Amino acid sequence: MKLFGVIVLALACVCSSSADKFKCTIQPADVPQAWRDMVSPCIKIMEDQVKVEIEAAMTYLAMGAHFARDTVNRPGFSKLFIDSANEEREHAIKVIEYLLMRGHLTSDVSKLLKFPLKPIREEWNTGLEALSDALNLEAQVTRNIRGIITTCESPADSNFNDYHLVDYLTGDFLDEQHKGQRDLAGKVSTLGKMMETHGPLGEFLFDKKLLNGEPL
Ligand SMILES: [Fe+2]
Repeated sequence: MKLFGVIVLALACVCSSSADKFKCTIQPADVPQAWRDMVSPCIKIMEDQVKVEIEAAMTYLAMGAHFARDTVNRPGFSKLFIDSANEEREHAIKVIEYLLMRGHLTSDVSKLLKFPLKPIREEWNTGLEALSDALNLEAQVTRNIRGIITTCESPADSNFNDYHLVDYLTGDFLDEQHKGQRDLAGKVSTLGKMMETHGPLGEFLFDKKLLNGEPL
């Protein structure tokens, strides 16, 4: 095992000292461009959506971490928001995969995540406050997706209606947005009533039900 480690280390040293020799000199393949038919305003607004989704993921991560703090200790809320963060990350991946499928993003993709990316805030006074923020966040994301649909359906500088992308966003993304918003609105409603009748105990009971995966 030790000998293996020494060999790996030696190879690493050789590679690092002559890194230039290992640079890839193969030129990009000469693929015809005609099949890449997305127009620039549509590509641009889709690229911007990657950042929107990642920022939503960061806000949900901040919520998940906040409710997991020992001084807050609401594991049900924490789980809900961490799950939501994973979903937002998945949405960013889906947007990137779509652009790649249409032949875009073949160069540097790091520009899509223009740092700094920030969650909308880092602390919430109550679970109700966080759920309301989540609902507002989702409503904003929905407006963004509608903006992409409008741009890609009737771009300012061309008459190219991107039917496939519009159909994908409408059937896949908007469908999930509307269902998610309804779910959050219902939770805001139920939690509000529970807190009105039971005060902080209402939030405690709501958290237990969230953790058990009960419909709320
Ligand atoms: Fe999303």
